[in-house]
Amino acid sequence: MPKAVVLGAAGGIGQPLSLLLKANPLVTELGLYDIVNTPGVAADLSHINTQSKVNGFLPADDGLEKALTGADVVVIPAGVPRKPGMTRDDLFKINAGIVRDLATGIAKTSPKAFILVISNPVNSTVPIVAEVLKKHGVFDPKRLFGVTTLDVVRASTFVAEKLGDPSLAASVTVPVIGGHSGVTIVPLLSQSSHPLPDSFATSELEALTFRVQFGGDEVVKAKDGAGSATLSMAFAGAEFAAKILRAIKGESGITAPTYVNLTSDPSGAEALKKELGKEIDYFSSVVELGSNGVSKILPLGKVTDYERGLINAALPELASNIDKGVSFIAGPK
Ligand code: NAI
Repeated sequence: MPKAVVLGAAGGIGQPLSLLLKANPLVTELGLYDIVNTPGVAADLSHINTQSKVNGFLPADDGLEKALTGADVVVIPAGVPRKPGMTRDDLFKINAGIVRDLATGIAKTSPKAFILVISNPVNSTVPIVAEVLKKHGVFDPKRLFGVTTLDVVRASTFVAEKLGDPSLAASVTVPVIGGHSGVTIVPLLSQSSHPLPDSFATSELEALTFRVQFGGDEVVKAKDGAGSATLSMAFAGAEFAAKILRAIKGESGITAPTYVNLTSDPSGAEALKKELGKEIDYFSSVVELGSNGVSKILPLGKVTDYERGLINAALPELASNIDKGVSFIAGPK
């Protein structure tokens, strides 16, 4: 205990993420599943002298079922990444079906596992997983997470740069709320653990906010057709998975922004929706993690007028992304 499983383990994110999980001392068993190359990735990782036992599986011979058997944490980076000019929503057609099929496997084989969804568009793929689990009667909203940690990691890095001290990057924390694409990403820079200087101009604040929202595009452009963020995403995914693993082990007081179904904490959600001024079924806010998953959805706290405007711009887009995911499984409302 615990067994971690990566679905999409041979990909650009999957390989370095599997490496980081192999290096995590809390993982005792690592299952790697992909439609290609997992035997090689598993053989390679299995020579690393950490405790976890690694196995690779392909679709043949019930590979998905074998990979998922006994899983405690399942991380999903399977699917296609963006190319220049594409939005995360453009990925929906292909990734929706991939995520649906993987979620079906989880529902049948490891319904109690904590599920960490990386495959984009996260705003829609998380509702897809939820609807599949509901169809199988095994949905536990406390155990399903959209991984938005890369936005949080980027915000820390960019704020530390602005403060002129890159050594702060690991300690700066900025709550990033909303969702995980473009304008739905809302960094609450006013709540940064290390405040920006009073001299920070509105135009600088807007540019910094934009950079957090669209930082992924910098990578897509620089990779020039070879994909999107993989190494920084693997780092972020491993950071979030490490928090989940610590929470499962019984550590309390761990918090992280993550995109969750709001029924995971009805009273926290009620307070949050009051702050938002809108009904919404999924939202990324700072969540306290416990051994059963989401233990508390924390309130937004004090936001500036500028941040309120960002939230108001995010909500309609987020609602439509959620609808798209739900309709893909449940049919239109
Ligand atoms: P990639 O193309 O390098 O790797 C994807 C892997 O998924 C491949 O190895 C492929 O064989 C595998 N795969 C495809 N269909 C599969 C199936 N049915 N079952 C199992 N595996 C399957 O792509 P990359 O760069 O690793 O990105 C993966 C996903 O992560 C994309 O959807 C991308 O948009 C998303 N992403 C999410 C981020 C986030 O912050 N949540 C950040 C960056 C990327």
